[in-house]
Amino acid sequence: MERRLANILVTGGAGFIGSNFIHYLFKSTDFKGKIINADKLTYAGNLDNLIKIEKTLGGNRYFFEKADICDFEKMKDIFQKYNIDTVVNFAAESHVDRSIFGPRDFMQTNIMGTFNLLEVAREYWQEKDKDDFLFHHISTDEVYGSTEEGEYFYENTAYQPNSPYSASKASSDHLVRAYFKTYGLPVTISNCSNNYGPYQFPEKLIPLMIMNILEEKPLPVYGDGKNIRDWLYVEDHCSAIWQILNHGKTGETYNIGGENEWENIRLVNVLCEEISCIKGEDRDCYKKLINYIKDRPGHDRRYAINCSKIKKQLGWSQKYSFQEDLNKTINWYIDNRKWVERVRTGEYKQWVDKNYKDR
Ligand code: NAD
Ligand code: TYD
Repeated sequence: MERRLANILVTGGAGFIGSNFIHYLFKSTDFKGKIINADKLTYAGNLDNLIKIEKTLGGNRYFFEKADICDFEKMKDIFQKYNIDTVVNFAAESHVDRSIFGPRDFMQTNIMGTFNLLEVAREYWQEKDKDDFLFHHISTDEVYGSTEEGEYFYENTAYQPNSPYSASKASSDHLVRAYFKTYGLPVTISNCSNNYGPYQFPEKLIPLMIMNILEEKPLPVYGDGKNIRDWLYVEDHCSAIWQILNHGKTGETYNIGGENEWENIRLVNVLCEEISCIKGEDRDCYKKLINYIKDRPGHDRRYAINCSKIKKQLGWSQKYSFQEDLNKTINWYIDNRKWVERVRTGEYKQWVDKNYKDR
């Protein structure tokens, strides 16, 4: 059965996946309702990502509220003001490296923020007696820890988070599940693998490497570069979330993955080759920039998702091809140098200058 979706609260909608999700809903689905984007606008949140939507749909079907998910009164007002029926909780501190240098914000937003949002949702859902309410929580495959070759993460794989980031996300997942079991709050959870695509903050592997290649700066590869990640194009993640919102069963968790494993060093080599090809230069010319550096502490060796549940039960599948969409992503960063320059200033720059001195 399809759920009635009218007023969707997207938290963290000014970030990478959240803003792609808002674009996706307005552009690629039959969604007819309103989206309320509540974002604190940390260094990772950029309203530039949504300028076109603000111009065309702002005040009509798209609304922005600068809000911290940890602020109970503010979030409560937003639920009431917009008569929210669906929550998609993207808001989080999302970068593993930053969680190692300073875990406090991760615990605050990812754990306390999710807890606060659940409390707001519970009170609101109970008061309004909303039978079509859904709280969807966005999580990561990193909660499962690291896995060996030939093994995969399933929805019932035990949680074994290894970084402050993944431990904070694991905690939030547990809270969401507990609200279903204890209060019956209608929730769903999705655990997704590494995303790539436009608007990704250039601190994450793919955009960081693209920008460093374009700027001919060293390419910092952690450890031996043989760690494996499963890459998914961001729009495929968005379509999976849309399927869950419409057809997901409450209380359930869905794994989402690319079935597309890459060793970091192989991926960095491909990025070097693709960019040299776009620029009409010698195929190997950027590889000399590769710089193996000290490994990330607690660095998970391999992530690998089994996503057969969402495929079988909700009929979702990946649509995008890695080769083509990696290329599209590279070209997006080439065409959007001003966006990159803007987001790299201010708070982010201060953090990099303080913590990445050795790179
Ligand atoms: P991002 O860092 O690009 O964006 C996070 C957004 O949340 C930003 O707009 C930021 O301003 C906002 N935010 C942070 N703290 C907030 C607070 N207290 N209140 C309100 N807003 C706040 O992150 P992303 O890569 O878009 O990730 C979105 C979600 O998806 C996160 O929950 C993350 O754990 C999850 N996830 C990410 C990936 C990935 O590859 N990027 C993979 C799986 C799951
Ligand atoms: P990242 O994009 O930070 O995502 P996550 O740690 O959440 O998977 O990193 C992806 C992989 O790339 C991970 O194995 C760490 C590695 N990495 C580097 O080797 N160098 C870098 O500068 C960064 C940011 C990541």
